[in-house]
Amino acid sequence: MTKIEVRTAAPDDLPGIAAVALANGQGEEWAGADPAYMRHLLAHGTVVVGVSGGTVIGFGATRELAMGPGPVSMLCDLFVDLGAHGGGCGRAMLAELWAAPGRRMTFSSLHSNALPLYAGFGVDAWWPLLYLHGPVGALAAPAGWRAAPAVPAEVARMELAWTGADRADDHLAWTRRPGGAGLLAWHGREVMAAATVGGAGGEYGVTHLAVAPSADAAAAVLVVLASLEGETARVCLPGPHPAVRALLAAGWRLEEFDLFMATDPGLLDPRRTVPSPALA
Ligand SMILES: CC(C)(COP(=O)(O)OP(=O)(O)OC[C@H]1O[C@@H](n2cnc3c(N)ncnc32)[C@H](O)[C@@H]1OP(=O)(O)O)[C@@H](O)C(=O)NCCC(=O)NCCS
Repeated sequence: MTKIEVRTAAPDDLPGIAAVALANGQGEEWAGADPAYMRHLLAHGTVVVGVSGGTVIGFGATRELAMGPGPVSMLCDLFVDLGAHGGGCGRAMLAELWAAPGRRMTFSSLHSNALPLYAGFGVDAWWPLLYLHGPVGALAAPAGWRAAPAVPAEVARMELAWTGADRADDHLAWTRRPGGAGLLAWHGREVMAAATVGGAGGEYGVTHLAVAPSADAAAAVLVVLASLEGETARVCLPGPHPAVRALLAAGWRLEEFDLFMATDPGLLDPRRTVPSPALA
């Protein structure tokens, strides 16, 4: 087999990366074929390509997140051209992205090569991340809660205060997506949740939501979803999140799920976190 070379990606690689993403069915906005998404990763993360015979046959990306006692390397993407699946390109790219030891996490697809490959790099599978989609009109804001628009810097400031994670760059980029907007959720006179929403077409919904330590995590999700414009929306929730049952009972549907894999299950609290599958 032709040797696979792994190197840091440059803006010139975006067409090759897009071709690999499209071959894997990743044609949607804010995925590998979307230059805005890839440019965000090039600017704020580490992106590599796997090259064989001069052609890009795979790409992968990590984003370092400042969480708790130190950085966590989030694997955002790992994709290989269909004809090269199982040929070692995924392993070669991951060995480059996760060369340094440390805390790691990702949302693994259910592709049969994904979980076994990631497990070898020290991450275990802990819980499913459920992609839920449904009618906004079937939801009502819980009593005493309301949601109001906010600029991305304000959303990021609240999240930083509650979690210690500075996600300002991500909130700004998420706000620039189609339908992108920041929201704060109030319970009485207190801000209890901060979210960025957006996305194109059927992907429109909650991109990422942070809650105050004392917040009712289910109510925070419901008030934000109930406030959205449009008939339907999407949210990605950990299986154990307390809003899951309320959404299913309201007629929301499970579309698909990924698996949260991490060196330590404590990196994300599945009963409170509402992460972006790509960037957490
Ligand atoms: C997931 C993906 C990136 C992996 O890249 P790849 O080049 O196909 O994977 P590799 O050949 O490097 O490694 C696959 C590993 O899985 C192992 N594997 C495959 N099926 C397995 C199974 N059923 N049980 C145990 N191990 C299995 C292989 O033996 C190999 O391990 P090895 O290197 O120790 O032999 C690629 O298959 C892909 O693009 N899949 C579709 C898109 C996708 O789902 N991406 C993941 C997004 S999170």
